[in-house]
Amino acid sequence: MGFTVAVVGATGAVGREMLRTLEKRSFPVDEIVCLASTRSAGSTITFRGQEVLVRATSPEAFKGVQIALFSAGASVAREMGPAAAAAGAVVIDNSSAWRQDAQCPLVVPEVNPHAIKDRPRGIIANPNCSTIQMLVALEPLHKAAQLRHIIVSTYQATSGKGHAAVEDLKAQTAALARGEAVHPTVFPGQIAQNLLCDWKPSAMEGGEGYSEEETKMVFETHKIMGDPTIGVSPTCVRVPVVNGHSESVWARFARPISVEEAKELLRNAPGLILDDRPYAPGAHPQPVQASGRDEVLVGRVRRDFVDPNALNLWVVGDNLLKGAALNAVQIAERVIAE
Ligand SMILES: NC(=O)c1ccc[n+]([C@@H]2O[C@H](COP(=O)([O-])OP(=O)(O)OC[C@H]3O[C@@H](n4cnc5c(N)ncnc54)[C@H](OP(=O)(O)O)[C@@H]3O)[C@@H](O)[C@H]2O)c1
Repeated sequence: MGFTVAVVGATGAVGREMLRTLEKRSFPVDEIVCLASTRSAGSTITFRGQEVLVRATSPEAFKGVQIALFSAGASVAREMGPAAAAAGAVVIDNSSAWRQDAQCPLVVPEVNPHAIKDRPRGIIANPNCSTIQMLVALEPLHKAAQLRHIIVSTYQATSGKGHAAVEDLKAQTAALARGEAVHPTVFPGQIAQNLLCDWKPSAMEGGEGYSEEETKMVFETHKIMGDPTIGVSPTCVRVPVVNGHSESVWARFARPISVEEAKELLRNAPGLILDDRPYAPGAHPQPVQASGRDEVLVGRVRRDFVDPNALNLWVVGDNLLKGAALNAVQIAERVIAE
């Protein structure tokens, strides 16, 4: 028996990956409902070799839908998520709209799959891409040695800001190659050959000076791990990479943990690949290697020079896959297994 599955934001960067992920993992889809804004209503998208009509998102569009995968931004999720749930669908939303709602579980299946069952609103939130890949890498170490503090610096790809942001990077890169000035269309400044912090200021109490992306990593780590005492000190940066987020992670645990023990734990953990080549120039996980892959790549596992309880890691993942579409489909797989 299959399911009627809706993808809201089907024409976007994440939505397209959701459709590909459903195909690739042979998710039991009887009927696919592709929804977007009125701008792309009437266009078509290919799913399993068939052309599917894109329809405008409305409460009526969810009639008969059992699983609704949302990737159309927070305002659409706030407005249409409850309508889809009221129509009987289990909603899995990629935006930030429901992540802080105590009645919506926030789930990384490798970390807190048990949370899926408790969803009084019928809505499950997918965490932020940077949080997901960091926690997939840290969970096996946390289980063994209890995380106490994380210092993370992100190097986030432009695809994390949507399809139009990638086009902006490409246009800026081409302009610079022609010796012309850049004219940013999505980013608040030059991203080609440059780095930017391009997120809104955080509205979190006590989060003055931080970006929204940074305080999301704090809140979401606490909610997913179920432990608000874990320290999280984030700095998020956008880099001129098309796809694949990288993170430099320093993590301190409740007890000493050796590089050998950490590598053994990481080698046997789900959802990640340990790259334990000895350090050499260019021998480390890279966004171009992670792009298109389901697994999070973890490498450069090093002891801390000062603190025997701490380790340094380099973590790279496909933000559109494990950071968004794949994580959502993995949640859906657990929902249908209920
Ligand atoms: N990119 C990532 O790595 C990533 C990771 C985690 C979470 N997310 C989240 O996923 C969501 C989508 O991101 P994205 O990168 O895929 O963005 P995107 O490429 O800009 O795509 C946005 C999608 O939303 C649709 N949409 C926009 N306004 C709508 C409306 N009023 N009603 C219905 N559909 C509407 C668009 O349809 P049209 O084609 O009709 O405009 C398009 O399909 C965002 O909430 C984002 O924060 C993204």
